[in-house]
Amino acid sequence: MRIIKTENYEKMSSVAAAIVGAQIVLKPSSVLGLATGSSPIGTYKSLIKGYQDGIYDFSQVKTVNLDEYVGISGENENSYRYFMNDNLFNYVNIDKANTHVPDGMAADKNAECKRYEDLACSMGYADLQLLGIGQNGHIGFNEPLDYFPLSVHEVDLTESTIQANSRLFEDESQVPRTAITMGIGTIMQAKKLLLIAGADKKAIIEEAFYGKITPQVPASILQLHRNAIVVIAEN
Ligand code: F6R
Repeated sequence: MRIIKTENYEKMSSVAAAIVGAQIVLKPSSVLGLATGSSPIGTYKSLIKGYQDGIYDFSQVKTVNLDEYVGISGENENSYRYFMNDNLFNYVNIDKANTHVPDGMAADKNAECKRYEDLACSMGYADLQLLGIGQNGHIGFNEPLDYFPLSVHEVDLTESTIQANSRLFEDESQVPRTAITMGIGTIMQAKKLLLIAGADKKAIIEEAFYGKITPQVPASILQLHRNAIVVIAEN
């Protein structure tokens, strides 16, 4: 595992975008596993700039996102599909048909989980998976548990995640209570993992990457991945 320390959020974002960008320069048809949230916004901005400058070409890129809330549609501005369109896809030359997010409105959630795992598998899983980390060590929506969930599944969000995510909703009662997420197994299938974390994540970074590997800190499993990079902002 490589841990790269950067001065601040802007530098963290530029370093992460350079790693994602290099991936698509080296393999234009890369499958990118993508994340939402505050952490990757700067990375996406920097990738958009690289596209506008003619450095990055997304025309053959395929994407598969980590997760989606259950019960809100892609048109809802709090959905992760909306986030991806609004923060990256609408501003680069990616074919939206090649971008995938779980369907939070699917009538049969179990069937949707299976479809999404099969889809990721049929794409050969991600060449590079971008990740953020929750204050409790979650990755995707894999919350602390007694075991590492393997495949795509529906999950109950913990109180701390509901509270953390309520900043984007009108009030806490509007935050969906469940989500569909890639499992830890799905994430670990990626050929390369790139986790980014701002300065507010210092304590959990310490626990996850300098402590013991435990499903109580789901991100700690990254210590076992052959090609994991963590980019941290110090301030
Ligand atoms: C988002 C996701 C989450 C976030 C995590 C950190 O798709 O899967 O695990 O990466 O909650 O969120 P931020 O970046 O908002 O602190």
